[in-house]
Amino acid sequence: MAIRSNDARWGAIARSLHWIIFVLIAVAATVGLIMVELPKRPNIIPVYSFHKSVGLTVLALAVLRLLWRLFDRRPREPAMPAWQHWASRLVHGALYALIFAIPLSGWLFDSAGGLRPLHWFGLFEVPKLLAPNGDVKDVAETLHEALFWVLAAALVLHVGGALKHHFVDRDDVLARMLPWRTRRLRDAAASEPPAPPAATP
Ligand code: HEM
Ligand code: HEM
Repeated sequence: MAIRSNDARWGAIARSLHWIIFVLIAVAATVGLIMVELPKRPNIIPVYSFHKSVGLTVLALAVLRLLWRLFDRRPREPAMPAWQHWASRLVHGALYALIFAIPLSGWLFDSAGGLRPLHWFGLFEVPKLLAPNGDVKDVAETLHEALFWVLAAALVLHVGGALKHHFVDRDDVLARMLPWRTRRLRDAAASEPPAPPAATP
């Protein structure tokens, strides 16, 4: 299993980070949407702490992912019209920005609220980003929720694009990002032209 990405497929690290971040965002979003509807009683504090810890994990993995992306390469682009190429670049750029901006706005909201210490899964204390500040708290809260809905909209485009590649264009764009090796990927590898013979002196 290739650690780094190659022409044909995303490598194990890029794929793992993509899907782990996806699952953690789904968990953070589900818990977030439910917890804000719960009555404000002390027994929901652990739910908030869990949400914040999962969110901070997304932020840490987003840093790793971006660093790895700078070092790694991406598989070859499939043939597609220029507008689709730029649309996918735009959505990918927005997704990268959002996996930083959403947890950062949550962290800012928590810091500016200044209520109680922030602990990562109860294991260690995470520093506050600034002193308590009512104005920043309000802006960060609005931003946190609004950016989440921007992410939801970007995801519709992103998943729509992936499914179009898979079912309409019938190329390997989705297959090469999936955690498992699909038949389409094996067929694509089998139809690759053989490498040219090495030049002899
Ligand atoms: C990928 C990461 C995250 C996602 C997807 C996410 C998502 C959400 C969502 C959907 C809500 C509900 C918004 C609403 O309907 O009002 C929420 C609320 C909240 N989140 Fe996050 N969040 C993330 C990370 C964080 C982090 C890292 C923190 C703090 C360290 C945090 C702190 C909060 C708080 C305190 C609320 C409650 C806001 C309120 O009471 O109005 N979140 N989050
Ligand atoms: C919160 C969830 C998600 C986020 C933040 C996200 C983010 C990203 C980003 C930033 C890239 C670009 C990779 C790069 O160029 O380095 C990417 C690629 C990709 N994602 Fe997602 N993604 C999410 C969910 C999904 C889902 C649910 C699917 C499948 C239906 C999916 C399918 C793909 C595919 C197929 C690629 C590769 C595109 C290509 O090779 O050009 N993603 N994703």
